[in-house]
Amino acid sequence: MNNTKFEKLLEPGYIGKVRTRNRMIKTANGTSFIETSGYVGDRALAYYENMAKGGVGLIIVESCGVEYPLGVQHPPVQFHLDDDKYIPSYSELTKVIHAQGCPAFIQFQHAGPWNPTGLLPKRDTKAASTLTREELPGPAFDVPRGMSLAEVREYVDIWAKAAERAAKAGFDGVEINGATCHQINTFFSRIWNKREDEYGLQTLENRARFMCDIVREVKRRLGKDYPVLCLINVAEYRHEKGTTLEEGVQFARFLAEAGADAIQCRAHSYHHRDGLIQPEKMFYPEPPETLPKDLDWSRRGKGAMVPLVEAVKKVVSVPVFCAGRLDPVIGEDYLRQGKLDFVGMTRRLLADPELPSKVIAGKLEDIRSCTACLHCIDVRNKNQLLECQVNASLGREREFVIQPAGRKKKVMVIGGGPSGMEAARVAALRGHQVSLFEKTTRLGGLVPMAAIVKDVEVDDLLGLVRYFRTQIVKEGVTVRLGKEAGPMEIAEFKPDVLILAAGALHNTLDIPGANRRNVLSSARLHRQLMFFMKFFGPKTLQSLTRVWMPIGKRVAIIGGAIHGCEVAEFLVKRGREVTIVHADKTLAAGIPVEDQLRLFPWFDKKGVVRYTEAKYEEITDKGLVITTREGEKKTLEADTFVVTLPYLPNTGIAKDLEGKAPEVYNIGSSAEPGLIVNAILDGARLGLKI
Ligand SMILES: Cc1cc2nc3c(=O)[nH]c(=O)nc-3n(C[C@H](O)[C@H](O)[C@H](O)COP(=O)(O)O)c2cc1C
Ligand code: SF4
Repeated sequence: MNNTKFEKLLEPGYIGKVRTRNRMIKTANGTSFIETSGYVGDRALAYYENMAKGGVGLIIVESCGVEYPLGVQHPPVQFHLDDDKYIPSYSELTKVIHAQGCPAFIQFQHAGPWNPTGLLPKRDTKAASTLTREELPGPAFDVPRGMSLAEVREYVDIWAKAAERAAKAGFDGVEINGATCHQINTFFSRIWNKREDEYGLQTLENRARFMCDIVREVKRRLGKDYPVLCLINVAEYRHEKGTTLEEGVQFARFLAEAGADAIQCRAHSYHHRDGLIQPEKMFYPEPPETLPKDLDWSRRGKGAMVPLVEAVKKVVSVPVFCAGRLDPVIGEDYLRQGKLDFVGMTRRLLADPELPSKVIAGKLEDIRSCTACLHCIDVRNKNQLLECQVNASLGREREFVIQPAGRKKKVMVIGGGPSGMEAARVAALRGHQVSLFEKTTRLGGLVPMAAIVKDVEVDDLLGLVRYFRTQIVKEGVTVRLGKEAGPMEIAEFKPDVLILAAGALHNTLDIPGANRRNVLSSARLHRQLMFFMKFFGPKTLQSLTRVWMPIGKRVAIIGGAIHGCEVAEFLVKRGREVTIVHADKTLAAGIPVEDQLRLFPWFDKKGVVRYTEAKYEEITDKGLVITTREGEKKTLEADTFVVTLPYLPNTGIAKDLEGKAPEVYNIGSSAEPGLIVNAILDGARLGLKI
């Protein structure tokens, strides 16, 4: 340890007899990296090896079914160790993690009634009790059947067998997931448990018995020194029968008495998807009237669950921790105050697996910050391979190896948005001589503007720009701001490689009346914002727009994909009455589904009228004339019309500059308008290729 600022965070810790090299724990996150055959393949090996290499104290390998397919919610892309035949491939996994000096636990789970993908075969869903469809939180759940006593015992055996396989595969411990809305939690929670036997509702001990039995059985088979970590809902919200904090604390006590070596605390919402697992999302688009009690909301979700840990720590002597938007600085603070024993993190480590090493080296400015965008959750929920918006190498560890370039080239990057900056960063890391030309006076492309519009992620988005700026300067990229680069500059510069990352083109609304003064095209909107950004930073501008904006009271937004919906949210928060008109079938394309599930009800509450599959006809004195999906002509009255049609590729620049250098590449939104994740991936790929 050589960094006193993070004295506690970098101190070794223990879970049972397993020593962690520091107090940072990579909590479980599904990746979809398992082979569909059920074996651990190279993608998963590379991902976990890299995570371990980054210096984290302990890795909890992702949610692994104790039974398959019944026990998982993401078949066929979820880990499952339900058969001995998989043990050798899991041994490979523990080997690569151990080789990096990192211990490895594995999280076991049984999905119970939770079936969000709807992909599980029609099945006999076993849980604590039989419920009716009406009693379920929503369509993502299957109607459960209460288990007989014999079945409960059978499941204790199923769980213990999975733990035995884990031990054989070399895992240093197991985490039993008794949280969220999985099978074990149906015993803990009065929402799900209606039993009257010794696993029933009558006492807290009875409700905890199933998980305690599992802990005891694992210990009996593997020895008392084999670490068992228990993840539970210490509190449940949004249902009058949800587990209370007082009950959750007692559950933790029973588990510790049964032999648990550590407790991970979680707060859970009955509806599952309203922002408690990623607690900063409680503030999107706006916080509810009442935030779940007992939790700490003073840092907008960061460390929200720490009070649960504090309460549990009063009754157990084993280590207790939680995750939830924690970071090294806040984590150190909580550790020093004795409020946490470990700091659980997932997304910050997805965004930058080297975060722990960078903390150790005291290089916080090199940490690539997670923007809280939820792209990772979005792809995972769709059973797609895990991806991170800001870390293109995640899940592509074998492809993204930074090797010195065979021949050092003179590289000219035009455009300082995410794709240009990432291409410049990676190319410079490989030893190329890179210069980046940005015509405005700021780096970041549209990201600072996006930060103004998205007030929830503003710090995180600005953090991303800061990260890129720091990195490209550190890697020796010459940055020329306020410098438009055309054919003359290129001829003068004589690059070997010319990278066009100039961003997309604005789309124009091609209907009668589109040039009226009260029509704000996206090009004009950007010009205005760029002008004000000469004088104010994004945060100040964000505040100023709450006081004044040259936009009328009633606004019609033309184009309802991600940009249109974000602008709508921004305007509603500034007191505007908003209507969104969209030509396509689905609104909000590009916004993660989890966020859409919060945004649409909020739009409803705020009276945002939405038209989809509408045809824009003309803008007159009376308003925007559209033909609705049903074929009805309608005039939507508004004071201002904001155009947020999809961007267009900048093919012109590619044509104009063709042949101006031995190698010319058009990347990012300039080639194909997309999201930040696409731009960064494009930039990284090109940086590796040249
Ligand atoms: C893509 C993704 C998948 C996740 N999958 C799991 C999982 O399989 N089991 C689990 O207990 N938690 C899962 N989580 C929750 C994380 O472990 C963590 O509790 C949560 O993301 C809050 O921590 P963070 O703010 O540091 O990301 C997942 C999180 C993400 C982002
Ligand atoms: S995808 Fe977004 S939320 Fe997920 S880790 Fe990456 S930056 Fe963070």
